[in-house]
Amino acid sequence: MDDLTGKRIVVTAGGTREAIDPVRYISNRSSGKMGYALAEAARDRGAKVILVTAPTALPDPSGIEVVHIVSAVQMKEAVIKATAQADALIMAAAVADYQPKSAVKEKIKRQTAGAELILELVRTPDILAEVKGNFIRVGFAAESEHLLENARDKLKRKNLDLIIANDITAPDSGFDVDTNKVTLIDRDGKLEDLPLMSKREVADKILDRMVGMIGKR
Ligand code: C5P
Repeated sequence: MDDLTGKRIVVTAGGTREAIDPVRYISNRSSGKMGYALAEAARDRGAKVILVTAPTALPDPSGIEVVHIVSAVQMKEAVIKATAQADALIMAAAVADYQPKSAVKEKIKRQTAGAELILELVRTPDILAEVKGNFIRVGFAAESEHLLENARDKLKRKNLDLIIANDITAPDSGFDVDTNKVTLIDRDGKLEDLPLMSKREVADKILDRMVGMIGKR
């Protein structure tokens, strides 16, 4: 298939890491598999793909420009740069919602007095909500409850063209597995409930929907 020939697509993947000190960080269970599958599927359909990825165990895919970042703030900067001429942005990354208020320069020592250590967190930038530009915007909503309600809310709040609602409590779905069970919801409220399938198949279903949207831009 070559229905994305010449289109520029930016995909984000992986879970960002927010530094606590030089050896510790806050992160999440994202493996990057969904984002990498999307980047590879878009490449195979002819797109020019930039993959902005947080650290994962996956090898860099060939034929794709890969930008390695670590934190949410770095991902935002890389996404702004990568989307300068993009036709679409797919935010498959699990971006941390909070980061330590100040990353300490020296390794934090175990305290001899007192049993508690309080870590102050501040909000990270919401990349999807903040990055502007004339491109198709696709987001993910990984939820453990009120899946569709929360996904619809995010679609509106982040001004998206398409959202992928992902029930992370369903078996074989969500983090660190090769399969996913998702529902696609577009701007007009049209809902497409997909059965359990491989992340690569989910990627192609998402791109199927995006082809028409990119064409109408
Ligand atoms: O609000 P929530 O984190 O559930 O939103 C999920 C969607 O927003 C995902 O597509 C994710 O990549 C994106 N996101 C973002 N910046 C953040 C948090 C999430 O772009 N700080």
